[in-house]
Amino acid sequence: MENVTIMDHPLIQHKISRLRDKTTGTNEFRTLVSEIAMLMGFEALRDLPTELVEIETPIETTKQPMIAGKKMAIVPILRAGLGMVDGVLNLVPSAKIGHIGLYRDPETHEPHEYYCKLPEPIDQRTILVVDPMLATGGSGADAITMIKQHGGKNIKFMCIIAAPEGLERLHKEHPDVQIYVGALDRQLNENAYICPGLGDAGDRIFGTK
Ligand code: PRP
Ligand code: URA
Repeated sequence: MENVTIMDHPLIQHKISRLRDKTTGTNEFRTLVSEIAMLMGFEALRDLPTELVEIETPIETTKQPMIAGKKMAIVPILRAGLGMVDGVLNLVPSAKIGHIGLYRDPETHEPHEYYCKLPEPIDQRTILVVDPMLATGGSGADAITMIKQHGGKNIKFMCIIAAPEGLERLHKEHPDVQIYVGALDRQLNENAYICPGLGDAGDRIFGTK
């Protein structure tokens, strides 16, 4: 699929396997989510624009590439997306943070919006939307629609685990968005949970039930 990257790095796979384990506790889970976000972010941001900047080394003056401007936005989908922010911020500390609040209705599995605040000028930023789980794809697709309605143009989406159903929907609704997936799982179950998945990402990050 064009614009879709499935990570196949052993370090990422190992950490995702630890996440899947139901005996992995909240503290380790949170650390792993952050580490995976950083490793994936390294790949997702490989096309960040650079510009040549004059630098004086101890030997001579030279022009070398540095990240151009400071125009990046990280946008977690609340709640679980919050767990991925730190990892990406480690890579780009100057990034601004937007927030999109969506929850899935437990019966219909449709997303409901409750919050949206994005850094300006959103149309000039590289936007990295983060959410550990892409299940039906409803939350991811709606979040990106909201960002586009606010003027966002250059949008990437990064999730740790995706179901084929969600990946297909997100790609179909937003073919212009580059999607980065840590692991592509088998399918959704009757409750629209990802199989084998890792359970409820938000609950496991925040220690709720
Ligand atoms: C989870 C997850 C995604 C969404 C994925 O959030 O973090 O946002 O479900 O499902 P979808 O692809 O079918 O929309 P949830 O709604 O459980 O909220 P939470 O992060 O507050 O726990
Ligand atoms: N949200 C989650 O946290 N996990 C799933 O498997 C599906 C949606």
